[in-house]
Formats: sequence, C-alpha cells, structure tokens
Amino acid sequence: MRINGQVYNLGLDNRTSLLDALRDHVGLTGTKKGCDHGQCGACTVLIDGKRVLSCLSFAVMNEGREVTTVEGLASADDSLHPMQQAFIDNDAFQCGYCTPGQIMSAIGCISEGHAGSEDDIREYMSGNLCRCAAYPNIVAAILQARDEMRRA
Ligand code: FES
Ligand code: FES
Repeated sequence: MRINGQVYNLGLDNRTSLLDALRDHVGLTGTKKGCDHGQCGACTVLIDGKRVLSCLSFAVMNEGREVTTVEGLASADDSLHPMQQAFIDNDAFQCGYCTPGQIMSAIGCISEGHAGSEDDIREYMSGNLCRCAAYPNIVAAILQARDEMRRA
C-alpha cells in the first residue's frame, strides 16, 4: 500500500479494515477509531484525494491507491497544512479525538466544492461527529482554510 507517499508491504488477513491496518500494522495512530461502523467520521482518510471512512474499507481494497492520513499533511519542513493551522487558530477542538477525522474530511469537503457557505459546510461535514460540540469553531476553521487553500 502507498500511505503518505511511502510504500508499505503488508501481509494482512483480507478482512482487516483499512483503519486497523493503519493503526495496528503500520503504526499510524493519528486516524482514530470512534464507532468502527461508519457512524462518527473519526476514521476519515483520503484515498486518491477523496474522503473515505477507513473503518468501512478493507485494506486490500486499497492496494495501488494513495492513502493520506493526518500524519501525511504537514510539509517536509514540518510546516502545517492550512487546515491544521486553521484548527489551531480557531480553537476548533476540545478533547481532540474527532479532530484528525474532521481535518481530513474538511479537506475533502473543500476539494469537492462543498464549502461555499456555512450551511454547506455544516451539511457536508455532518458525517463527522464531535462529542465536545466544537462545531462553530470547526466551521470557522474550514472557512479560514478554504480561503487560504484557494489562494495557494
Ligand atoms: S470509526 Fe469509522 S465512522 Fe466511526
Ligand atoms: S473535540 Fe472532542 S470529540 Fe471533537
């Protein structure tokens, strides 16, 4: 599998979810397991640039695809992705458990063209739950990052 630009040769049971492969076999624990059945969005990653719930995807389905996790967002010089910086700037988290999934989903939401308004963002981010209810700050962060990503 290609994960964050690196190739990993993994021998996995074919029932292993992408989420478990990332966390338990590759050691990338930034992607979180909330519900493990497609309800919370904590496990969201990008596959070939599109957001996917990694708990609902088998690892073997993603052979040959490019998987991006939250660990793969920062640049080589460690500068943060605009979405990561926007979450910090807007204090868009409390416990932080949902945050990697929120960030990955937010990047997908913008690239899909679904971040035109606050209402759009709320609708298209509705698959990502936050038990701490940081929603207003998450929306503000996405608006900030959207504008910065458009300028880049
Ligand atoms: S852990 Fe995948 S949606 Fe909750
Ligand atoms: S910041 Fe705690 S669940 Fe979202």
